[in-house]
Amino acid sequence: MKLDLPQVIGHRGAALAAPENTLESFREAHRQGARWVEFDVGLTADDQILVMHDDTLDRTTNGKGPAHAQTLAALKQLDAGFWFGKQFTGIKLPTLAETVALLAELDMMCNVEIKGSSRNAETTKAVMTELRRTWPADKPKPLVSSFEIECLRGAQAEAPEFPRGYLIGGRPLDWLAQARSIAAATINIDNDHATQPWMAELKQPGYGVLVWTVNAPERAARLIEWGADGVFTDAPGAVLARLAKGV
Ligand code: G3P
Ligand code: MG
Repeated sequence: MKLDLPQVIGHRGAALAAPENTLESFREAHRQGARWVEFDVGLTADDQILVMHDDTLDRTTNGKGPAHAQTLAALKQLDAGFWFGKQFTGIKLPTLAETVALLAELDMMCNVEIKGSSRNAETTKAVMTELRRTWPADKPKPLVSSFEIECLRGAQAEAPEFPRGYLIGGRPLDWLAQARSIAAATINIDNDHATQPWMAELKQPGYGVLVWTVNAPERAARLIEWGADGVFTDAPGAVLARLAKGV
């Protein structure tokens, strides 16, 4: 099934309205009208797949220190909602399987971002195996992205049927060679460098272009006008409302 890219992808769910990378954040993105969410994954000490952005627990949980040095059972004891707002107290860190199950229930698509670490190969193998096991067979495959070319190569080797998104910051000189080497479907670029000429250069060989992270609705409209296929945003509802007016 061809990858049908959306104009709006809820970044870490709907990170301005709910604690990022939690099931509640994905539900909130759905409530705001998003069809896709992006989230970040890494391995726990006991090789389970945790949905979380940071390397450490301090910012988004009531825990402390390195997140991925803990077992899933220990991580499940933590509160991943209180830091964001009292009404989110008691929310747990989700696993990839729990997230996929919710997205199936909500009929949503996703971009799974594999975070770089000292365990890139194991992480990628585990993530792709889990996606193959859990992703509904009747839905298009989700986009798997990473800043780490090693993870993208691993994803291609392990489960080539999942489209790959090459995440870049700035304008690396070797971007086209790298994108070709992993048969990328999309190039996911940063908003600060997203100019009209850069977008044209990326689109020319036929890549989908997604821009992170765009919270200003007017900026999102401009990027779409320049040819971006979509944007990652912490405020999917506001961006959708702006795009509904046309670009
Ligand atoms: O995948 C887009 C964006 O999430 C990349 O940066 O740090 O928010 O994961 P980060
Ligand atoms: Mg991310």
